[in-house]
Amino acid sequence: MWIYYDSKTGNVERFMEKLRVLRDWNLQKIGPDLQVNHPGHLVTFTTRIGEIPESTVQFLSTHAGNIMTVSSSGNRNWGQNFARAADLVSLKYQIPVSLKFELSGTKKDVNNFIEILEQIHDC
Ligand SMILES: Cc1cc2nc3c(=O)[nH]c(=O)nc-3n(C[C@H](O)[C@H](O)[C@H](O)COP(=O)(O)O)c2cc1C
Repeated sequence: MWIYYDSKTGNVERFMEKLRVLRDWNLQKIGPDLQVNHPGHLVTFTTRIGEIPESTVQFLSTHAGNIMTVSSSGNRNWGQNFARAADLVSLKYQIPVSLKFELSGTKKDVNNFIEILEQIHDC
């Protein structure tokens, strides 16, 4: 399983640390030099009042074709803009949403994420 993730203040990074304990998946942080040679799943965060981070926009401009699902971290304090980046990416690129979660996610969020992805991959 290949996961491509974006994180600015560390919450998505911490979600990945929890995931790393449970599954031996390839967790790759998005950056200008990241090579994408495998289809995988994107996990990002929501910024600037319901927007997709610029770093994620850049990543998708090259690699959207390899992305099977999108998930977003957010904060419920933002009301209807909660984790909206996932909806925007989904609409723009026709990619299904896997999960929206708060901050670095609970153990339940991480387990849900695993279950959703393993169902998609039939494992
Ligand atoms: C300037 C700013 C704007 C934000 N806007 C939203 C938002 O519109 N919707 C939302 O759900 N969360 C919003 N958040 C919360 C972040 O998405 C949340 O803290 C997320 O976990 C950050 O991920 P990261 O720590 O991996 O960068 C915002 C945070 C900041 C600092």
